[in-house]
Amino acid sequence: MLDRTAHNVAIGAGVVGSDLPIRLTGVDYRAGTVSILCGIDLEISAGLPTVLLGPNGSGKTTLLKLVMGLIAPTAGTITYNGRERPTPGSRAFVFQKPMMLRRSVAANVAYALKAAGRRPDRLEIARLLAEVGLAGMEDRPARKLSGGEQQRLALARALAREPEVLFLDEPTASLDPASTKAVEDIVARVARSGVKIVMTTHDLGQARRLASEVVFLAKGRLIERAPAEAFFTQPATDEARRFVAGELVL
Ligand SMILES: Nc1ncnc2c1ncn2[C@@H]1O[C@H](COP(=O)(O)OP(=O)(O)OP(=O)(O)O)[C@@H](O)[C@H]1O
Ligand SMILES: [Mg+2]
Repeated sequence: MLDRTAHNVAIGAGVVGSDLPIRLTGVDYRAGTVSILCGIDLEISAGLPTVLLGPNGSGKTTLLKLVMGLIAPTAGTITYNGRERPTPGSRAFVFQKPMMLRRSVAANVAYALKAAGRRPDRLEIARLLAEVGLAGMEDRPARKLSGGEQQRLALARALAREPEVLFLDEPTASLDPASTKAVEDIVARVARSGVKIVMTTHDLGQARRLASEVVFLAKGRLIERAPAEAFFTQPATDEARRFVAGELVL
């Protein structure tokens, strides 16, 4: 795997060539008359994973799409290392239900490599597949893979971009415990290699396993942002306390 750790340490946050930190100031998102996110102030810095946590409908996916630059805020600003636009090719996304090309596993990875301006080299395809535990599956039809395998292929395609930031929206929501663990292990390894992970989940266990920092949302508002350890042991707000205790926050 590409090791970005040394690179990131060397350049630090806020230097030319990096999209980090991503800074949201007074961000609202409305759809028609419906307020989906309100008054979000947040900074996402280089380092270990940031997990957006909150109950269903709290605005996690919407916030992730805003941070990814896929939708624009209806008020407020988002900057990437001080710039209004992120650097093309610096980010990769994995969605809850990945779309596979109706082709082989290898062709799916080759497509991602070409899209990233890289050579679709057989050895590199094999390396990326091994990275996600799909070694030797090059010739399988991608759409015939199981849900967990497709999710891992989606991760391989994302890694083919050699992203600085990898965004994941509920990457294990429909997977069984074994596939969930496989995906979490890959995410943890990618994070250790220096790629910034920004992911959503409503799964407290997953947040405990992966998060370095937790951003907790409820009803479209950012309720709490804290180091994971502090969030889980001493939540500062009543909403977070109830969520950590397993009570639904609505
Ligand atoms: N384009 C839209 N138009 C109207 N309402 C929307 C739109 N997009 C999202 N919403 C609503 O905004 C709220 C937040 O949605 P979002 O998908 O961001 O939540 P979430 O925290 O990701 O939920 P889940 O855990 O179920 O994935 C929901 O009530 C949703 O129905
Ligand atoms: Mg969602």
